[in-house]
Formats: sequence, C-alpha cells, structure tokens
Amino acid sequence: RNYTVPYDEIGAEKLSELMHAFYKRVAVHPVLIPIFPEDLTETIRKQIQFQTQYLGGPNLFTEEHGHPMMRARHMNFPITPDAAQAWLECMAEAMDEVELEPKFREIYYKRLVLTAHHMINTQNIDE
Ligand code: HEM
Repeated sequence: RNYTVPYDEIGAEKLSELMHAFYKRVAVHPVLIPIFPEDLTETIRKQIQFQTQYLGGPNLFTEEHGHPMMRARHMNFPITPDAAQAWLECMAEAMDEVELEPKFREIYYKRLVLTAHHMINTQNIDE
C-alpha cells in the first residue's frame, strides 16, 4: 500500500494489548459471561485477525475464515441491547487501560458502536 491506515499507526502490538485488555473484562462481565466460551484463547486470536482488517490492515480474518458476515456469525448467540452496551463498556475501559491515542480512539470507538448495534438480534431478557 502507498497510503496509511489506522492499523499502521496503532500497530500489531498495541492492537494485541487492546484485545487482551478487552477480553480480560469480557471474561468477568456478568452480562457477557453466559454468552462467551470459558476459554477465550481462540476468540482473542480471531478478534485480533478481524480488527486488523477492520482497521485497514491485512485481511487476516478473511484469509482464514472467509467472508466476515459478522451479523450472521453472531446469530448463534443472543445479542441483546444490554449485551451490546456491556461489550462497548469493556472496550472503552480497555482503550483507557492501554492508553489508545485519542486521535484513533474517537473514530475507532464510534465505528465499534455502530457495528455493536448492528449485532443486536434479540430483546433484553426482561422486556
Ligand atoms: C465472536 C459476542 C460484538 C467481532 C463472538 C462470539 C460471541 C460474541 C459470543 C463467539 C465467541 C467464540 O465462540 O469464540 C458478541 C457480543 C457483542 C459482539 C455480545 C455485542 C454487541 C462484536 C463486534 C465485533 C465482533 C462489534 C466487531 C467489531 C467478533 C468476531 C468474532 C466474534 C470477529 C469471531 C467470529 C468467528 O468465530 O469466526 N462475538 N460480539 N463482535 N465477534 Fe462478537
């Protein structure tokens, strides 16, 4: 490529740190525990691949798993509005922990908000 994408500036190392900080929170979040597998090793690996391409880097996820079809891949799991909120809170806290530079953080987080809302496929349990 002869142009710069967010992935180039954030870097593989920072992205990996961010994803580990994120899943550390997912693993103990009361709303998310029942949805995610107990062992998050493979989940983290796939998410790093996906975020790499989401941020404009190499298409690591697609190369190994095919078309992302993210909403379809989430259909096996009940994604409520509360779960989307919890997911985003874990991400915001992870971004704080790794001190993601504000110039990436704002645009990256806004985009994740849209993607997370797009994943919602069922109502909250008590509604
Ligand atoms: C996989 C939950 C939002 C990207 C998963 C899995 C769960 C989950 C339970 C399966 C984990 C596994 O079996 O290893 C949620 C919830 C969300 C959410 C509750 C709240 C809205 C997102 C968003 C993105 C994303 C916003 C991307 C920006 C992925 C990827 C995978 C995944 C890449 C791996 C897919 C695969 O197995 O091939 N998610 N997710 N998720 N999620 Fe999410």
